[in-house]
Amino acid sequence: YRRLRVALLGAGAVGSQVAALLRQHADELADRAGARLELVGIAVRDVDAKRDVELPSELFTTDADSLIVGSDIVIELMGGIEPARTYLLHAINSGADVVTANKALLATHGPEIFDAADQVGAEVYYEAAAAGAIPIIRPLRDSLAGDRVQRIMGIVNGTTNYILDRMDTEGAEFSQVLADAQRLGYAEADPTADVEGYDAAQKAAILASLAFHTTVPLEAVHREGISSIDSSMMDAARHAGYVIKLLAVCERLTEESGESISVRVYPALIDRAHPLASVHGANNAVFVQAEAAGNLMFYGAGAGGVQTASAVLGDVVSAARRHIAGGVGVGESTLANLPIVPVGRV
Ligand code: HSE
Repeated sequence: YRRLRVALLGAGAVGSQVAALLRQHADELADRAGARLELVGIAVRDVDAKRDVELPSELFTTDADSLIVGSDIVIELMGGIEPARTYLLHAINSGADVVTANKALLATHGPEIFDAADQVGAEVYYEAAAAGAIPIIRPLRDSLAGDRVQRIMGIVNGTTNYILDRMDTEGAEFSQVLADAQRLGYAEADPTADVEGYDAAQKAAILASLAFHTTVPLEAVHREGISSIDSSMMDAARHAGYVIKLLAVCERLTEESGESISVRVYPALIDRAHPLASVHGANNAVFVQAEAAGNLMFYGAGAGGVQTASAVLGDVVSAARRHIAGGVGVGESTLANLPIVPVGRV
């Protein structure tokens, strides 16, 4: 196989799992991608910081710029706007395809990043930027490209869903469960981003932009968080047959004057019979209503290091296939030569 140089920027909860899986499944990933994905280095702020998984110390560097130069694929998992934005632009302009989970960056500087990639024929992959492990970017961008999405109702923040779920099922208090969400690695570095709906608003802007084939700026997203929800509100909702969830609603509105888009994040009362009501823990779900397809629901882990790493690695394989195909189309992957187990023996 040809070797592709893969640089990783960031080794937090997701980054360290991506590095570990790249190494652990190197042979299988090579078969799938049609190229060996060689992790050439991991750029971090502090090479001595404690990581979630053990990785060879010689991989770590503080010099992201040198690592980027000469890499075929750059994975950005640092989060935040700067220096992530500068590094991504550097990677694109150095000829790399890029993979990012950076919702804050894409929601605020998406057009700049995508334009830079268009200019040089690079590709930006970001399946992990919304709803963690759930495949939702490709379905909205590709699978539903021939349809007209009318509405998306999403639980797109694992931390707040985890908090509200425990408040609902255990009568737990907000502050107590927030600490657990942080300990479990669901919450952002500053949990205000989760609790006040900023994280969900960024994801809503990304999903709405894809669903409605436009650019929805973050400032256009109405945002309310869950910090004012207390146990008495949860009780009142429960007695009335509802559950409170932080929802991201992206809607196409049709009026006489023409079509418009509404995107909003707020704690909503959901009827307990609705499929979104049974999304528990840190799971996410995205309910999509499309003109021809009807109702679709995407469900799974919306947060967590190894779960989100799955979406990142899928993007890395896509980037590698495109790379070896010369930048157009999708490369051939070698089929795994697995024995077929007769039905009934599984
Ligand atoms: N803090 C985010 C969440 C992580 O809780 O959903 C995944 O984006």
